Amino acid sequence: MRIETRAIHAGRRIDPGTGAVTPPIHLSTTFERSPTGEYPLGYSYSREDNPNRHALQVCLADLEGGKEALCFASGLAVATAVVQGLEPGDHILAPDDVYWGLRNVIGVVFAKAGIQTSYVDMTRPDLVKAALRPETRLIWVETPSNPLMKITDLETIAEIARAAGPNVMTVCDGTFATPVLQRPLECGIDMVAHSTTKYISGHSDVVGGVLITRHDNYLFERARKAQHYGGGVPSPFDCWLTHRGIDTLAYRVRAHSENAMRVACWLCAHPQVERVHYPGLPGHAGHEIAARQMSAFGGMLSFEVRGDRVRAMSVVARCELFIRATSLGGAHSLIEHRASVEGRGTKTPDTLLRCSIGLEHADDLIADLEQALSL
Ligand SMILES: Cc1ncc(COP(=O)(O)O)c(C=O)c1O
Repeated sequence: MRIETRAIHAGRRIDPGTGAVTPPIHLSTTFERSPTGEYPLGYSYSREDNPNRHALQVCLADLEGGKEALCFASGLAVATAVVQGLEPGDHILAPDDVYWGLRNVIGVVFAKAGIQTSYVDMTRPDLVKAALRPETRLIWVETPSNPLMKITDLETIAEIARAAGPNVMTVCDGTFATPVLQRPLECGIDMVAHSTTKYISGHSDVVGGVLITRHDNYLFERARKAQHYGGGVPSPFDCWLTHRGIDTLAYRVRAHSENAMRVACWLCAHPQVERVHYPGLPGHAGHEIAARQMSAFGGMLSFEVRGDRVRAMSVVARCELFIRATSLGGAHSLIEHRASVEGRGTKTPDTLLRCSIGLEHADDLIADLEQALSL
């Protein structure tokens, strides 16, 4: 079955107790044992497993073509669970422009864990190979990347990891692409991480994350322990909301992509715009790879305004339809001055504005940017 159909049916069933078509939210924290001590329906305590979380995990594993999925309370809780699975002395390879939150997880949360990290340009396989060490256990990729929209060739990275040995695991953060546009596991990547806060839930009303694996492996098993015992789990209502959002995922993501392509093309021709970062543009450095490994180019783009930081900030301030807010993947378009969000040490250019292109009409979005960019 196609992804549109699976998004609506995977992990769903008619509620056997009531016949309800829309699943109930199971708030119960605890589940009855049989007189002989078993848990006949498979649930004992909601931190370990819960019907709403279970259904969402089944659905997400199915959409990504994976063996199994683990849902967490946020996208960064997923990254935390993966990094927690490493041992002192282990080495991580991560993109030099990785989502800044992952840098915080590695550099702040795990500062004392004795884990080594090299940040490399993942678009350069030669640099990735050169950065490998005998202690490398994790290659984390993010494509398209946030906020520079760099594209990493997933098949090449998977090949490099395979050649480096069976203990080197690859994880792709596919948040910007979703399983609708990109299939990392089919490219040989071991696991996929998503912030479900974004396109997957799709309405800017629930924070969550998921780790999906292609096969049994030690890092996934350790992440499972982090979920069961560590307990960074999403609530039943969070799971229910996320699962509901998935019903329309394929259609939303395609509409986001169409709008973003129109806005990107329009920005390219604007005299006040220095550069547009969107992988759908033929001039984008990663366009060829993106055209091969994605079925459309997604709803995220960034652009550099001619001038300086003050000018970039003033463009954001003048937006009327685009909402000045961080995050992405909801129905409404968002714009932000990314460098000031990321703070000290960021590599993001000071004139760069990141846009999450929403589901409004593209003409209205363009009109808003036109008046915001006018001098
Ligand atoms: C690419 C990417 N990965 C991970 C995250 C973290 O997700 P969360 O905010 O759900 O923890 C974000 C958040 O913006 C993101 O953009």
